[in-house]
Amino acid sequence: MVADRLPISDRGLQFGDGVFETMLCLDGVPLRLDGHWARLQDGCTRLGIPVPAAARSHLLAAVGALGERRLVAKLVVTRGCTERGYKFPPDLVPNWVLTISKAPALPPELRAHGVAVRMCSTRLAREDAQLVGLKHLNRLTQILARREWNDEFHEGLLLDTDGNLAEGCGSNVFLVLGGRLVTPSMEHGGVHGIMRRSVLEAARALRLPVDARPVLPAELRAADEVFLTNAVQGVLPVRSIDTMIYAAAGPVTRRLSGHLNDLPVSTAPAGAIGNAP
Ligand SMILES: Cc1ncc(COP(=O)(O)O)c(C=O)c1O
Repeated sequence: MVADRLPISDRGLQFGDGVFETMLCLDGVPLRLDGHWARLQDGCTRLGIPVPAAARSHLLAAVGALGERRLVAKLVVTRGCTERGYKFPPDLVPNWVLTISKAPALPPELRAHGVAVRMCSTRLAREDAQLVGLKHLNRLTQILARREWNDEFHEGLLLDTDGNLAEGCGSNVFLVLGGRLVTPSMEHGGVHGIMRRSVLEAARALRLPVDARPVLPAELRAADEVFLTNAVQGVLPVRSIDTMIYAAAGPVTRRLSGHLNDLPVSTAPAGAIGNAP
């Protein structure tokens, strides 16, 4: 069944009981769909939510029908609707919500010369081990962090509660240090980004040495290059983090983003809500 309303008893609304994916779509095709779908499936499996298989064909059909150059498709999957209380029956039917909107326009000079970033004072707490890496519907830390700036910065970086660099408010972070690509290992939290994975694969293909490990904030000062990644904005060079200045975009950032070769910009709206499967 396809509808345009979600009951107020939906557990995504009541408890954040679900997962989501945000995908860049180019010329009617969602990019890196297999990666997004694998993360969605992993999230659903770990939460015990049946994967709404029909959502994938709806997504492909809706994005294909719009055929716009650059769109963002967001797919939310929730456990479904129940009465009050955390308990749920084993045969509950999930709900899914698909929204398609214009990809945000990113001024070309930001992509070429980098974005200004701040260090947030909001810290990312250790995640419940059962939830590490998932793009689940509980995003309150990111929402609190996003209150820390307006438009003067493009993104904020968060440390975790152990004092290590964690990720961006809505992105993952990479450093180029002594010729090596370094990124937080994210064993205790953060979203395991689809673009982060693509960058790690690209680095392997380009034979760049990579370290995924705990990263101290002081290492940002020593970095030759810093860049951010997310599925919608791709690889985004950083030109400053508060008073730290970088020559952006640096050669490694350019090599990686050239290899990945998908830059976003503009485009159209639509929406659907459905029940799985
Ligand atoms: C908190 C957080 N970390 C990382 C990412 C990057 O993930 P992806 O590359 O899958 O977009 C996002 C994306 O929205 C995010 O919200």
